Amino acid sequence: MPQEGYLRLGVNVDHVATLRNARGIAHPDPVRAAALAAEAGADGITAHLREDRRHIVDDDIVSLMAEIDLPLNFEIAATDEMREIALRHRPHAACIVPEKRKELTTEGGLDAVRGHNYLGPVVRDLSAAGIRVSLFIDPEKEQLDAALSLGAPVVELHTGTYCEVEDPTARAAELERIEIAAAHGSAIGLECHAGHGLSFDTVKPIAAIPTIAELNIGHFLIGEAIFGGLADAVKRMRRLMDEARATRSASGSSE
Ligand code: PXP
Repeated sequence: MPQEGYLRLGVNVDHVATLRNARGIAHPDPVRAAALAAEAGADGITAHLREDRRHIVDDDIVSLMAEIDLPLNFEIAATDEMREIALRHRPHAACIVPEKRKELTTEGGLDAVRGHNYLGPVVRDLSAAGIRVSLFIDPEKEQLDAALSLGAPVVELHTGTYCEVEDPTARAAELERIEIAAAHGSAIGLECHAGHGLSFDTVKPIAAIPTIAELNIGHFLIGEAIFGGLADAVKRMRRLMDEARATRSASGSSE
């Protein structure tokens, strides 16, 4: 078990499958990428089974569950189909995300406030099966409060806006929003994760937030793997995360 204060790294292997599917053959295999990421220091593997199966497909989930020792964070939309698949496989965790068919990637967090009625049964059924449910939300107090009232033990805070904005003042404001949200989440008893769009350039300020327990990173690591290999990309990300945590602890910040 990772020690308290340790920041876990979940590696999302979706885009290995994107490349594989571009050719319609078996190579490159996201399960092989997951094994490599595990060897390089990943603490978990994330895979998003989308309704249109544009990257990860059902057989990948079977193989990831059977062949990879790390906990699987199964990303899904809150649909009946995905709930049934999750209940069949019983992964360690399920992260519920909003999903629009035409989007290039997950574009924003769930609306846990207005989505109470459709999210409630999914959180309940997955939790009853022993799956640790997280809700992917924007870093807003009312979303965290809604996640808590839905019974989700974990939230994943959307870092996409923080990563995308170029203006330093706007980025600092977004970082502060994430930090305030993570502190609030932790104070009300939620485990806070974060992810979306993180890279070597953007990870450190997020990794330094002491109330965040896990980062989930995919596209950048898989892209970087083209140039220097997946193992090196994962190791460098791990190092940057550890450095950020060590610097923050040395500066005496408390939770
Ligand atoms: N977390 C969630 C909930 C996501 O939907 C995604 C994208 O699939 C990620 C993290 C990883 O984002 P990225 O691929 O940009 O690192």
